[in-house]
Amino acid sequence: MPKIRSNVVAFGDTHCGSARGLWPDSLITEGGNTIVANEIQSWLKECFDHMRDEVRKIRPKPTGVFMGDGIQGGNEKQRELCTNKTSTQAYALRRMMEPMRPHFRELFWVRGTAYHVGDGAEDVETTAEMLDATPVTKEGQPVSYTRWDVNIRLGDSKNDPVANFAHTIGASRVAAYQASVPLRDTLAFIDEVRRYTSDSPDVKVVVRAHRHRSVVVGVPPDIWGAVVPCWQYQSEYSRQRGMTLWPHIGWMLIQWDGQDIVIKPRTYTGPQIRVEVVR
Ligand SMILES: [Fe+2]
Ligand SMILES: [Fe+2]
Repeated sequence: MPKIRSNVVAFGDTHCGSARGLWPDSLITEGGNTIVANEIQSWLKECFDHMRDEVRKIRPKPTGVFMGDGIQGGNEKQRELCTNKTSTQAYALRRMMEPMRPHFRELFWVRGTAYHVGDGAEDVETTAEMLDATPVTKEGQPVSYTRWDVNIRLGDSKNDPVANFAHTIGASRVAAYQASVPLRDTLAFIDEVRRYTSDSPDVKVVVRAHRHRSVVVGVPPDIWGAVVPCWQYQSEYSRQRGMTLWPHIGWMLIQWDGQDIVIKPRTYTGPQIRVEVVR
């Protein structure tokens, strides 16, 4: 078996502030209210703690990529919020991320959907900085700690493949077709990079989030498209989109062994659902 040369842990869509998203056991707001995690949030936190334990054991020590939608946002159209104050949502996210951060050698932070995180991800910019995310620099100065996408070479040799990470990708309402868009976008993205950039990086893996459904699609011999799981359980929004699109909760491990890229989605089975009985 070839030895693993590098590991990347990709995860995101934590949607802190959503009543169905990630939340600490309890958090006191500026106004003095204590917001205690509800049943689903407690379950999500249990899974997140489990993820942290798994990440801690990965060798070589992984690079982390946060895939966006860290907070739910304060938009008035949303009804399933535990607070609409985005700075409190961002603080909750920081509280959840802090214990995980030491297990990553480096952390890259990709921006999410503007509806949730603001047009330029302003609300999570400070969170990313406080978690020591790797900044984008100009003339040696950090100019932002979040970014629209990141290209990461999975090793230090020029021949090692490059993975591209960004948040957004189209979604299918039909589970059976959920691999179609990642397949199309992966090939299109790689083609565009080759056509329109000088000295183009050798992108072999295209990783996206946003859909809250995980899928991995391969194009032999060596190209992969992947969508990472999320950390927001079934919500008002996802139910409106269709009851067959149950969110996949979890994270994704991407490994490079010098020969193959190996993609491992890690998902958690949800709590028991309620069944009413005829009388
Ligand atoms: Fe999301
Ligand atoms: Fe999104």
